[in-house]
Amino acid sequence: SVSAFLLNRSSDLEILSEGYTKVVYDTDDPELTVIEFKDTVTAFRNIKRATIKGKGRLTCRVSSLIMGYLNSKGLKTHFVKADGDNGQVCLKVRVIPVRIIMRNAAAGSIVRTFGIPAGTALKHPVVEMTYKNNDLDNPIINRDHADALGIATYEETEAMIETSRKVNSLLCELFASIGVQLVDFKIEFGYTADGTMVITDEISPDTCRFRNMSDGRQMDRDRYRYDQGDIIDTYQELTNRLEKAL
Ligand code: TMP
Repeated sequence: SVSAFLLNRSSDLEILSEGYTKVVYDTDDPELTVIEFKDTVTAFRNIKRATIKGKGRLTCRVSSLIMGYLNSKGLKTHFVKADGDNGQVCLKVRVIPVRIIMRNAAAGSIVRTFGIPAGTALKHPVVEMTYKNNDLDNPIINRDHADALGIATYEETEAMIETSRKVNSLLCELFASIGVQLVDFKIEFGYTADGTMVITDEISPDTCRFRNMSDGRQMDRDRYRYDQGDIIDTYQELTNRLEKAL
């Protein structure tokens, strides 16, 4: 189904921002946006790009399910409700330019940084932070960098990390219940108009690593990064399992 908002949207409403995978639209309500998920997928600092028909519908659905689940558990997110296949009504936020990455097992950049085998178990979850800045290739930062450079205060990064740990616990348990290991994920935060810190952006197979427990199959964007194929089928399978669990 097509988003009711996009169908009826008056042309004088602004696009607030557009990235590689999503468009954020202004609405008549000063507190709300509509986010449209696109079929584009990228990898390796956006050097590799493609359009995969139906991908946006699936990342939108998974992110709606996860954000709705986090809301139901008392964590605050920007998500208000789904709007058609590719859209979400969300709270308007001022995004904090920091990405929190949580890792439960070694994959991706930590494998390259430390020269350890992919899949190595980590004794406890590992938190990383990056500065959201494409011109600088989103460098890894720590809390001192964030505070000293005016990117985010100690108080803010502490709150973001604490919430990310809670999200990790909740999602590890949720995904384990559908036979999927949450290997790692990226999460972002922002402030609503009234100053509340909320989880924003998306949480989906585009921003997490998931492994099928029964056969070790990757169920996320690594299928695109490493040309493993069956991206839509795999995202759909993950969506189906999540819908049954929630
Ligand atoms: P990494 O291993 O490449 O550092 O990625 C860690 C996790 O963060 C992985 O689940 C993918 C996710 N991620 C994003 O969603 N967007 C990004 O730009 C990056 C670098 C990672």
